[in-house]
Amino acid sequence: MVGPCHWAFNDGAPMTFSSQRGPFPHTRLRRLRQAAWSRELATDRRLAPGDLIWPLFVLPGKNAQQPVSSLPDVSRYSVDLLLPQIEQAIAVGIPAVALFPVTPSELKTEDGREAVNPGNLVCTAVERIRSTFGDAIGIVCDVALDPYTTHGQDGLLDDGRIANDATVQVLCQQAVVQAAAGCTVIAPSDMMDGRVGAIRRALDEAGFHDVIIMAYAAKYASAFYGPFRDAVGSQQNLGSADKKTYQMQPVAFDEALHEAALDLREGADIVMVKPGLPYLDIVTRIKSELAVPTAVYQVSGEYAMICAAAQHGWLDRQACMLESLLSFRRAGADMILTYFALDAARALQAS
Ligand code: PBG
Repeated sequence: MVGPCHWAFNDGAPMTFSSQRGPFPHTRLRRLRQAAWSRELATDRRLAPGDLIWPLFVLPGKNAQQPVSSLPDVSRYSVDLLLPQIEQAIAVGIPAVALFPVTPSELKTEDGREAVNPGNLVCTAVERIRSTFGDAIGIVCDVALDPYTTHGQDGLLDDGRIANDATVQVLCQQAVVQAAAGCTVIAPSDMMDGRVGAIRRALDEAGFHDVIIMAYAAKYASAFYGPFRDAVGSQQNLGSADKKTYQMQPVAFDEALHEAALDLREGADIVMVKPGLPYLDIVTRIKSELAVPTAVYQVSGEYAMICAAAQHGWLDRQACMLESLLSFRRAGADMILTYFALDAARALQAS
């Protein structure tokens, strides 16, 4: 008969008080917890600045900085003021930033055509960052139309529906324009079917074989994106509409794996799960079943919750920040997009 602890008591006896050798308890997990040095040695998951990607909001113009009220301590910056931010990120060992443009409303259209303008805000930002810092930091650009459309949807509308295939064509152009500006990681966040394969082909045909694709593979129709939509100004465009016909429903489980597997087959280099904390099970499943580079996005609402509670004195901001980021590593994520990136990297360096 094999007891629950047969590996520790391999005489085959079940673990009962009477069958244990020596005084109880024989196995003490607290032994390794008793000092900082032994806890350090026994650590089997780690969080480092090199795991973090920092999302940044880009404003048009010069010398402009606007705080985002629903994202405490997060500001939108014009490109000139963004550069010193990125310099700080490089200094603390953050490997990449993700750029999100705040498009002026006069440039938004029904078809989001500003997305494919090689002179648009995000392309200008990419060019400046690349010419200033070269390859010292990776630049991730979102591929989706929501910053550019008057209706705030990620795709083209056709008779009230999001037209998948027509949208994919525009997304391919958007990806190529961003790669031409110097973007090193293309991150399709739109959840159209077949877009990763189409974007891969378009990038390759344009000569951008080495541009990485980080697919928002398991992206849920979540209520946690609110502050982000405030930050980029897409909330007022979206109004009371939602994205449920293309983003996954929160209850979906197997479908997340299907999405990730498809994106990989179509050529994704990295698959992402988004949001993070409410979807840790999905991170674990993708990482353990597919064993591929896996990213997680700690989205705006997750960040806002921790900050808001900390502002009330109800939570310790730094401790909760690090604990939440560690949970992503424990779940299996290789990289984490988080608005805490700079603070977390600094805290990790200081510890
Ligand atoms: C746009 C996009 C969104 C986020 C990243 N890219 C919002 C959305 O899908 O509505 C959310 C990020 C966050 O909440 O921090 N396609």
